[in-house]
Amino acid sequence: MKVSPLSEALGVEVTDVQLAELDGAALDALKTQVFENGIAVIRDQQLSPEQHIAFAKRWGGIDVNPFFPTNSGWPEIAEVRKAETQRVNIGGGWHTDHSYDEIPAMGSILVARELPPSGGDTLFASMGAAYDSLSDGLKQTLDTLRAVHSADHIYQPGGFYSKTDQAAELTGQELSTRAVHPVVIRHPVTGRKLLYVNAGFTLHFEGWTREESLPLLAYLYELGAREEFQCRVEWQPGSVAIWDNRATWHLAMNDYHGHRRVMHRITLTGDPIAA
Ligand code: OGA
Ligand code: MN
Repeated sequence: MKVSPLSEALGVEVTDVQLAELDGAALDALKTQVFENGIAVIRDQQLSPEQHIAFAKRWGGIDVNPFFPTNSGWPEIAEVRKAETQRVNIGGGWHTDHSYDEIPAMGSILVARELPPSGGDTLFASMGAAYDSLSDGLKQTLDTLRAVHSADHIYQPGGFYSKTDQAAELTGQELSTRAVHPVVIRHPVTGRKLLYVNAGFTLHFEGWTREESLPLLAYLYELGAREEFQCRVEWQPGSVAIWDNRATWHLAMNDYHGHRRVMHRITLTGDPIAA
């Protein structure tokens, strides 16, 4: 297994390994890479859907996302797709998957199935680096706050996707989600402090109105999206990305209109998160 950094802030590229054949020690080494670096892209894989599912189960449970279309034969696999004719993609703004759940997903394993001829990269941002960059004063204030998260404004009727050409594909519009989490969490494995609000799903600070919360949230969203905290995954056929939702944000670039992109995602169940 060969590992090299994707950027100064986070991410590693892993080569010379086949995920379908990892022994226990190599899997532990890969988990450590993901927990310490936030995201790993593993190149040149030939993972069938069955192998994708079997590999995901070695990380813990599978969290079936109720909103994305599943891949017909495999209910554990969500399809993240954009057709030649569609204009809106899935995950096109900075977000963390499932922060609207009481126990948010630990991470995701995304397999590239059909890629556009160019573009369609995924950007990741380090919430550890973003937190570290704050002043002691703001760190102390944020350490005491909790925030309310929901996906209702994204997936419910009248929500973000309902007004787009992704609406017909999505499911679960009747569901309501809501969770309250500390604004600063500790990574359960590395112990690193992480900023845990995101533009996709965080509504407001607990006990604050949305109007009161927005200026500070907007500041944190701008901070977290600074280039110095990012890395970029350029997908290739056979690429697989594994990311840690507690430690990172991500954003799917929507720069390939007229071309099809299909990714297979398995979401991994998490542990309770805490300050
Ligand atoms: C996701 C997502 C990113 C991408 O699957 O959660 O945001 O690049 N996808 O497709
Ligand atoms: Mn996502």
